[in-house]
Amino acid sequence: MFSDDLCSLRWDPVSETVEIIDQTLLPHTLCRRHLDTLSDFCHAISSMQVRGAPLIGVTAAFGLARALAEDPSDVSLESASAALLATRPTAVNLRWALDAVRDKVRPLQPGARAAAALDTALSLRREDIATCSAIGDYGLGLLRALDRPGELNVMTHCNAGWLATIQWGTALAPVYKASAAGLAVHVWVSETRPRNQGASLTAWELQRAGVPFTIVADNSCGQLMRQGLVDCVIVGSDRTAANGDVCNKVGTYLKALAARDNTVPFWVALPGSTIDWSCISGADIPIEERDPAEVLSIAGLDAAGERREVNLAAAGSAARNPAFDVTPAALVTALVTEQGVFEASPDGLGKLRNVRASHTDPAGGPGRQR
Ligand code: MRU
Repeated sequence: MFSDDLCSLRWDPVSETVEIIDQTLLPHTLCRRHLDTLSDFCHAISSMQVRGAPLIGVTAAFGLARALAEDPSDVSLESASAALLATRPTAVNLRWALDAVRDKVRPLQPGARAAAALDTALSLRREDIATCSAIGDYGLGLLRALDRPGELNVMTHCNAGWLATIQWGTALAPVYKASAAGLAVHVWVSETRPRNQGASLTAWELQRAGVPFTIVADNSCGQLMRQGLVDCVIVGSDRTAANGDVCNKVGTYLKALAARDNTVPFWVALPGSTIDWSCISGADIPIEERDPAEVLSIAGLDAAGERREVNLAAAGSAARNPAFDVTPAALVTALVTEQGVFEASPDGLGKLRNVRASHTDPAGGPGRQR
């Protein structure tokens, strides 16, 4: 379903460069950019040219490899890691991927570090594709088990598709697998204020893939569930605590509450790399606070096709912009991972941890226990 060309981050072995899609320009412009310096990588992550937990992690791994190609010293390793780690606080994949590269290169002589770091980044990239494909297969099993006659209506939030990973996505992987398997699937795409990743990224992805979808205002999702128009909700995760609490794009929690009240299954699709075993519960997860300007204004194309940013509120209005929220494990029907479907509970996470420990991991990252 995905050609080599259709991915969020490419490595060109001839020019030895990383190429990303600048997601801040979608859906109106598909612009690919080369990332050449450590500061390019840091800027790409912090400005959200690349975003989504798994993609942030893989991009950071390539960024560290790039920095080590310039200067493989211990000082450079530490300072480049710190710079990349500071770009965004919530998605734990960032730390996970940087740790995977650091663990690999630290014991090596400086001269051998750049190549080893690049190998690790490439391995994390390959692994992300396989991981998301497996999440899609397990998610497809859940969708089939719903056994809905006619159209299957999946609701999602933010963008947890291939733009947020390398290919497939997490929450959207089951949708793509279902569509490829001939299921009549339709997606309710919640716009995801304030940055509108649903309306601008998820809708764009689904349109390109030929999957029917409808964009809805975030606040309408509860009503759609009450009307029986939603068969399940599938979202992603930026960080998952050891007790099964899930931190995802702000607005996820409200959907989980509405899903519980309407007995709609609420599934969270996540790679093991989003689990932070050091977080006992969601209360330990740092929530990114972004610029309030994102709440107070909106950007888009005007009638002449020019990009414009307009103010939504009276000048001088106060605003606050927490970018993520925590959904308590009790509201999560199940966690859909590359290792299977698990209960969102300390017991479920414990079982998942055991399965992961029994698998070897080429990058030294995902299977590793903290
Ligand atoms: O702020 P963003 O756009 O990086 O937030 C992304 C999300 O919240 C996704 O749902 C999450 O990273 C899971 S992506 C597979």
